[in-house]
Amino acid sequence: MVGIGPDTEAPVGQMRLADFDLKDRVFIVTGGARGLGLSLAEALVETGGNVYCFDREPQADERWQETARRAAKWGGSLHYRQQDVQDTDGLNRTIAEIADKHHRLDGVVAAAGVQQLCPAAEYSREDVARMMDINYTGVMMTAASAARQMFKYKCHGSMCLIASMSGSVANKGLISPVYNSSKAAVIQLARNLAMEWSPIRPDGTGGIRVNCISPGHILTPMVRKNFEEVPGLQQKWESENMMGRLAETSEFKGAALFLLSNASSFMTGNNLVIDGGHTSW
Ligand SMILES: NC(=O)c1ccc[n+]([C@@H]2O[C@H](COP(=O)([O-])OP(=O)(O)OC[C@H]3O[C@@H](n4cnc5c(N)ncnc54)[C@H](O)[C@@H]3O)[C@@H](O)[C@H]2O)c1
Repeated sequence: MVGIGPDTEAPVGQMRLADFDLKDRVFIVTGGARGLGLSLAEALVETGGNVYCFDREPQADERWQETARRAAKWGGSLHYRQQDVQDTDGLNRTIAEIADKHHRLDGVVAAAGVQQLCPAAEYSREDVARMMDINYTGVMMTAASAARQMFKYKCHGSMCLIASMSGSVANKGLISPVYNSSKAAVIQLARNLAMEWSPIRPDGTGGIRVNCISPGHILTPMVRKNFEEVPGLQQKWESENMMGRLAETSEFKGAALFLLSNASSFMTGNNLVIDGGHTSW
């Protein structure tokens, strides 16, 4: 059985911060072709993990290629699978293929997501369904599919669902009612999955911690598009957190590593809000 938990046998001082080491572990990161997902995949690779990025894009961006070239230096590896999270059968097949190849799966970062700015009164039923299908159902199906493989190989591990501070507040100046509701649903989903999967059952299955990260505004392709659509929005957002600036994707790497590694072995069912103080005043 492989597992995540405090190693009471390990002598202190043999290795720097051994709880953060992901050597030989296998992870899936959805939405990993670019943006936040790619940065979080980098964190797992740089600490020795074997990481499979899923995205609906036919290929990942240039920064992904650069990370893949550097991966061996850290003892990890980076792989790409064109996989839409709306295609549940494909998702199940691809996740099973990866787990069967390595005889393990240690965790998932579910970062695939979309944004749409539209006044609530003008939202079509089709657009609501599409947004929820990616941002909520896609996360749920990714987690469930991964959990089945983790049960199969009795892997105790960790999942990190990417929610948003927009799941807890309405963002001044951003008309995105369905996006915000979809992220609120993800925050709640983490609590329920954690309740079901965290305990280790008598047959050795379970032991899967589930948490989410709620980022504030980050400079990614998704947000740059919002800035093109709404003049003055960048300056407005910069003034609305305590740091007076937007985040870079790299500023979430430490949090993802914390959640996916033994370092957070007593944390489950919770929501890490990392927003430069945006929701604290
Ligand atoms: N950028 C922000 O300010 C911010 C803040 C809070 C939360 N988030 C969340 O972080 C996550 C990543 O966002 P980002 O800003 O990096 O956006 P992004 O658009 O740069 O990246 C999202 C990635 O998800 C992929 N994707 C979209 N739909 C998919 C699908 N159906 N199947 C597979 N892949 C799909 C896209 O192709 C893209 O590569 C999203 O869940 C987003 O909601 C972003």
